[in-house]
Amino acid sequence: MTLSQTLRSSVGQKILMAVSGAILSLFLVAHGIGNSMTFFGSEAFNSYAEKLHSLGFLVPLFELGLLAAFLLHIFLGLTLFLQNNQARPVRYQVEKSSGGRTPGSRTMPYTGVVILIFLAVHLVNFHFTDRAIPISEIVRNVLRQPLYALFYISAMAVLALHISHGFWSLFQSLGINHPKYNAALRHGSLGAAVVLSAVFMFIPLCTLLIKEFLR
Ligand code: HEM
Repeated sequence: MTLSQTLRSSVGQKILMAVSGAILSLFLVAHGIGNSMTFFGSEAFNSYAEKLHSLGFLVPLFELGLLAAFLLHIFLGLTLFLQNNQARPVRYQVEKSSGGRTPGSRTMPYTGVVILIFLAVHLVNFHFTDRAIPISEIVRNVLRQPLYALFYISAMAVLALHISHGFWSLFQSLGINHPKYNAALRHGSLGAAVVLSAVFMFIPLCTLLIKEFLR
């Protein structure tokens, strides 16, 4: 099967959505662990960032892979959204009360768009910046501004909603699905999403409220 055939078949789309989602989830977990260095002070955070950048050519290679995963995920998400709308111009009555749907699953395309907007702002804030300035200072200068801090905090709440369904969906696509442990998988996905988003959320919160944070 060629890539274009895979992209057009619904099974292929599902697999690629799961693979790109898994790559993005792994990045998010690694980014959350790395960012948690902020809680150990500016020195710990800066030395972590320096070590990361000392990986040389691996960094742009990793960034290209990440960009490809993001683009594939967005493209497939958009395709799925348009297909669902086309297939059901009039919403099924049963959908409203269907037990399988959650706030996370219902809002996937919209939370996805919010995360995309967040990412654009985020990369301008922290990625396309003056590399001569320590990263802790860049983060502090942005996040001590109340509007930015609020934007980051709200975006992390939206992220929690998106990945809570994303993690669950990932299990389904991998065939990890059984009536016996589906409830545990749902709760586990929600719990993991809340913990991960909370790590990210505490950074703007601490920068805004604690004067000495990242100094
Ligand atoms: C408060 C939360 C966050 C903080 C403080 C933060 C901080 C940072 C910093 C400092 C960088 C630049 C790293 C460097 O180049 O040295 C960065 C890059 C990046 N962040 Fe975040 N981040 C946060 C949340 C997120 C979230 C939720 C996502 C994804 C949805 C994300 C996606 C990215 C991406 C894609 C990059 C570029 C990675 C690269 O080019 O290697 N970040 N972030």
